[in-house]
Amino acid sequence: MAVERTLSIIKPDAVGKNIVGKIYSRFESNGLQIVASRMLRLSDVVAGGFYAEHRERPFFKDLVEFMTSGPVVVQVLEGEDAIAKNRELMGATNPQEAAEGTIRADFASSIDANAVHGSDSAASAAREIAYFFAASEICER
Ligand code: PPS
Repeated sequence: MAVERTLSIIKPDAVGKNIVGKIYSRFESNGLQIVASRMLRLSDVVAGGFYAEHRERPFFKDLVEFMTSGPVVVQVLEGEDAIAKNRELMGATNPQEAAEGTIRADFASSIDANAVHGSDSAASAAREIAYFFAASEICER
């Protein structure tokens, strides 16, 4: 299996619940290394650009409002099959449908306040990593 990088975001609901460490622990204990990390508050423009593919969806405005409602932590995760592994650890978008033991089943409350984001493909990972991090901010491990 190839070593990949993926972009992860710990969303405002999870930062507000003070569970960043618990989520990092899920990544680390499942073979994903944090190779870049930053806490920031997203502006409307930055959140809207990040979710541009959903611009026409009915939930877009609420999604941007939620993602700008408090600080987020963005990180690049590295490891074997990192994109799919992170999606598996996250669980389904809707926490009611997320498998037992996943981050969303354990920590998320609704489809919008769903604790974490993770890139869904190699192309998304490349775009999303570059959206938040310069190459010089990503550490070789
Ligand atoms: S979809 O419906 O398959 O396109 O959904 P998905 O690509 O998994 O994720 C869409 C992102 O929008 C957030 N969001 C919602 N999705 C669906 N329905 C509603 N009502 C909704 N509200 C917010 C959802 O959390 C996904 O965010 P990310 O950050 O990509 O996980």
